[in-house]
Amino acid sequence: MVKRKLVIDTDPGIDDAMAIVFACLHDEIDVVGLTTIFGNVSTETATRNACALVELVGQDIAVARGSDTPLVQAPRPFAWEIHGREGFGDVQLQPPAQGSLVDETAAEFICRKVHEEPGEIDICAVGPLTNLALALRLDPSISAVARSVVVMGGSLDAGGNASKAAEANIWQDPHAANAVFSAPWDVTIVGLDVTKQVVCTPEDFSMLAVKAPTLGGFLNRVVQYYFAATRERSGISGCHMHDPTAVIAAIRRELFTIRNSAVEVIEAGEQAGATVRSASTERPSVSVCCGVDNTAVQHLFLRTIETGF
Ligand code: RIB
Ligand code: CA
Repeated sequence: MVKRKLVIDTDPGIDDAMAIVFACLHDEIDVVGLTTIFGNVSTETATRNACALVELVGQDIAVARGSDTPLVQAPRPFAWEIHGREGFGDVQLQPPAQGSLVDETAAEFICRKVHEEPGEIDICAVGPLTNLALALRLDPSISAVARSVVVMGGSLDAGGNASKAAEANIWQDPHAANAVFSAPWDVTIVGLDVTKQVVCTPEDFSMLAVKAPTLGGFLNRVVQYYFAATRERSGISGCHMHDPTAVIAAIRRELFTIRNSAVEVIEAGEQAGATVRSASTERPSVSVCCGVDNTAVQHLFLRTIETGF
């Protein structure tokens, strides 16, 4: 079986942690690197958390630190109310003993990795898209050599979560999202239209803690903060599996209903960060996930964490 090679651009972040652990365990995925970005927390905290996650899963995965600020707009508040000030709820992970941090920026790392293996690297972005936009600025040719880009972000018909109109990752850097959605590469948007349908419950994570005490136990500890925030905001007993759903879309496309459309991002005003279908013939079409077999995605996530592969 040919493994898919993923660079995960991430703002860990509780659901990011779930996505990263899932990707590291799944036997069809080779995580070739983590690039970090602000969003749920600062880039500094995201980087420390990414290094701690690499140590927790016990794999040799490079971490490259990303931008501290959005491309154009002033920085937005971090999502501390959902992920906690340190990004893992009330859980403090020990700072990693040895470093997996590489001496290049996230944009430089992305450009280098896609050129090292043309047509092989999938970039899975589960945070704001600043690093991908900076990588395109640094080397526009990456759009021709990256295998694909899968983005957890946006919302075409499901409303917003960071504002009435905008999903958090796009709201944090709409200019970067426009750069990514207008570049000539293979982009798939995994937005709130599908991720809000993928919910795991306290019982699911309690089971993981029993079946996989180390990694399942860690995820069960950090998710409690996310459960409380979700209950307060959405009234449900569970959490939306935003980032794991995007990683699963990268390897199980058949679990999603996809429509092609050009997508534009509103960059300013009350609607800033909103993603809208575009009639522009100038802008390339992207694949937009508009339906999902949510039960299959939930089961795949839980089974992989439970079994370790
Ligand atoms: O809107 C959900 C997205 O914003 C997820 O990636 C979550 O981790 C936050 O980054
Ligand atoms: Ca995220």
